Amino acid sequence: MSGNRIIHTPEEIIRIRRAAAVTAQVRDEIARLAHPGMTTFDLDQLAGSLINATGGRSAFKNYHGYPGNICISVNDVVIHGIGRPDQIITEDDIVSIDVGVVIDNAMGDTALTFGFKEPSKEIKRLLDGTQQALMEGISAAVCGRFIRDISAAVEKCARRNRLAIVRDYVGHGCGIQLHEPPEVPNYTGWGKGPRLEPGMVLCIEPMLNLGTDSVRLDRSDGWTVRTADGRPSAHFEHMILITDNEPEILTWQKTM
Ligand code: MF3
Ligand code: CO
Ligand code: CO
Repeated sequence: MSGNRIIHTPEEIIRIRRAAAVTAQVRDEIARLAHPGMTTFDLDQLAGSLINATGGRSAFKNYHGYPGNICISVNDVVIHGIGRPDQIITEDDIVSIDVGVVIDNAMGDTALTFGFKEPSKEIKRLLDGTQQALMEGISAAVCGRFIRDISAAVEKCARRNRLAIVRDYVGHGCGIQLHEPPEVPNYTGWGKGPRLEPGMVLCIEPMLNLGTDSVRLDRSDGWTVRTADGRPSAHFEHMILITDNEPEILTWQKTM
């Protein structure tokens, strides 16, 4: 694991804070407007117009060739799902949206997973447990501690909720580039990582599964990541700023 990390300048942080706030607003607007009967392609198009209306652009479109405006990951899709005109959202689905906006050369990156009806006990454990793992990871992100402390907090919460941790993808630094050092794993066992210092901006993003932790990349599109056993997965992501005190959640909004 690299000991590399980026400390953003106060001038950058002003722009990053605004980009993150705009991204959070778009995320919540997409979640509010999503409904059964629409296709995931419709949802991606809607996201495209909402992003456009901010004066920014999608941070994901064309990123290493990614074709969508946002990532839309339904049920067993863990991350990086691409909106499709033949995929109709039903009220039984859980939908994860991951949104990135570039504005004024700064980035936001945030995700959440939601359903449309009263969830089963298992789905509730998955959704609440993953969101809680994110919040406990954030609580551990205090200056003077290490990346590993965030990882340990996420891992402990996942364990407590009997949820499997996806290990093939990790959180990351963010702000000016979409993916900056350091990596922020959702599990421990790899060393301490860099020390947390004011000015670091991190995306913490647990990806937790009801069944196996093992995932498969869909080779037909090169992007879609699914659970190996077909059981559901959830993903929540916030972007935070390390400060002298408590972390500042840059993508905070009322629906989360
Ligand atoms: N939003 C993802 C993350 O949290 C990255 C998506 S890259 C894309 O790191 F190309 F798939 F959009
Ligand atoms: Co993301
Ligand atoms: Co991210």
